[in-house]
Amino acid sequence: MPKIVVVYLSTSGNTKTMADAIVEGAKSRNVDAKAVNFHEARIEDIKAADAIAIGSSTFYYKMLPPMEKFLDSLEKANVADKVGAAFGSYGWSGEAPVMIAEKMRGLGMDVIDPVLRIQYQPAEKDIEECKRLGKDIANKLKKTIEKHIKTGKVEGVEVKMGEGGH
Ligand SMILES: Cc1cc2nc3c(=O)[nH]c(=O)nc-3n(C[C@H](O)[C@H](O)[C@H](O)COP(=O)(O)O)c2cc1C
Repeated sequence: MPKIVVVYLSTSGNTKTMADAIVEGAKSRNVDAKAVNFHEARIEDIKAADAIAIGSSTFYYKMLPPMEKFLDSLEKANVADKVGAAFGSYGWSGEAPVMIAEKMRGLGMDVIDPVLRIQYQPAEKDIEECKRLGKDIANKLKKTIEKHIKTGKVEGVEVKMGEGGH
């Protein structure tokens, strides 16, 4: 089953609420999804995931330094070509998700545009938007996997080649 990991930094729970709703949306599309606090995210989880959503709230017009460090550590996790998405709760300027998306693109990920930003505590309609993002990630992931199977660019799956294929 395709795997999505949703990693978040959340100081008062707003971005975490978004992460949980993204997971709920993804699961409704029959993919394996889980949310993890960035402190607990292990490189193995990142490597094993087919899609990675990363969320952070904004502090002083950027993300908090530990999240920047976490993003830097992704360079060792071979994330190029994986599906990505960025999100986060914010108060008035909301730079963090945009910066996360930029970083993900720099790592070669296929990032969903636009980022999802919710002001302060997510309301019911915001939760629905987060669930929608989870579904969109799952749908994009399925399409990407199908494409990779067609082009033979997928590990651990027996790829049927036409006659004369190697
Ligand atoms: C000290 C402090 C600085 C903040 N700086 C910003 C900021 O520069 N831009 C912004 O959009 N929101 C800013 N915020 C608002 C938070 O991003 C917002 O409260 C958010 O909902 C927190 O989400 P979380 O619970 O997931 O951490 C700041 C909040 C605090 C307490």
